Amino acid sequence: MPGVKSPSDWRSYALTHHPGIIIIRNPFTERGRRYWIARCLRDYPRTPNIVNLNERLFDDSVRSDWWKQLSLCRDRAEFQRMKSAMRWTTFGYHHNWDTKHYEERMQSQFPEDLGSLCRLFASTLGYCDFKPEAAIVNYYPVGSTLSGHTDHSEPNQTAPLFSFSFGQTAIFLIGGRTLEEKPTAVYLQCGDVMIMSGESRLCYHAVPRIMKTRRPGNSPLTNEDADDADHDTHLVDMGLFQNVGDASFWEPFSNYIDDSRININVRQVLNIGDLKLGP
Ligand code: SIN
Repeated sequence: MPGVKSPSDWRSYALTHHPGIIIIRNPFTERGRRYWIARCLRDYPRTPNIVNLNERLFDDSVRSDWWKQLSLCRDRAEFQRMKSAMRWTTFGYHHNWDTKHYEERMQSQFPEDLGSLCRLFASTLGYCDFKPEAAIVNYYPVGSTLSGHTDHSEPNQTAPLFSFSFGQTAIFLIGGRTLEEKPTAVYLQCGDVMIMSGESRLCYHAVPRIMKTRRPGNSPLTNEDADDADHDTHLVDMGLFQNVGDASFWEPFSNYIDDSRININVRQVLNIGDLKLGP
């Protein structure tokens, strides 16, 4: 897949006290990381995907195409307000934050490229039947946090969950099935992929801190990134994949992640053999 190193070059780790957690340290090329950051900012928060932006605070044009309006905004204070207000977008089956239940009628298309990316990691780890069906992209300005929770809304709680980190570094706490168990802290850095599988799939986790550890990545792309052209080019938006190598195209994305983190969280919703959610 363009933008992802060969699985034989991945550095993968398991956590001794948390069976089922797998961390693959940045298996992406620089161009690959830029591609997913641009997708998360420019494309995924667009209608018909759902975003957190409140209708009393933002008009329809912002809520339906946040990045475009942010790019057009010339007022410094308004730019900052719009930028920091974006906290999540959902697609595929939409996660309902209030009921914590998915509904058959509440879904938008799951993007082909992200589906291919997840299937690549899933099949390499032996989860050949994994179906990416719901995604939450979380946007974290430096200083923001995510409190402790478990991900248990999915009828299918045995399929693994795939989590991709981009931009600034998170301190990620992984605990146990109850709040009694002591959590372990790990750094999730730009490009890291974390898989919550098996026993850890339903464990408590939290993001208590985002740390500004990365300098703006505006340096020219390396030969490794030129090699990306040899892969299955139909799996990504090739126009965007090329454009992120252009310094002026990449600049606004680079500015965004200079003080923010992005997390893509992908789950399978349906149980094996089910074609849709029950009533
Ligand atoms: C989540 O648990 O929904 C997000 C975790 C993360 O940001 O790494």
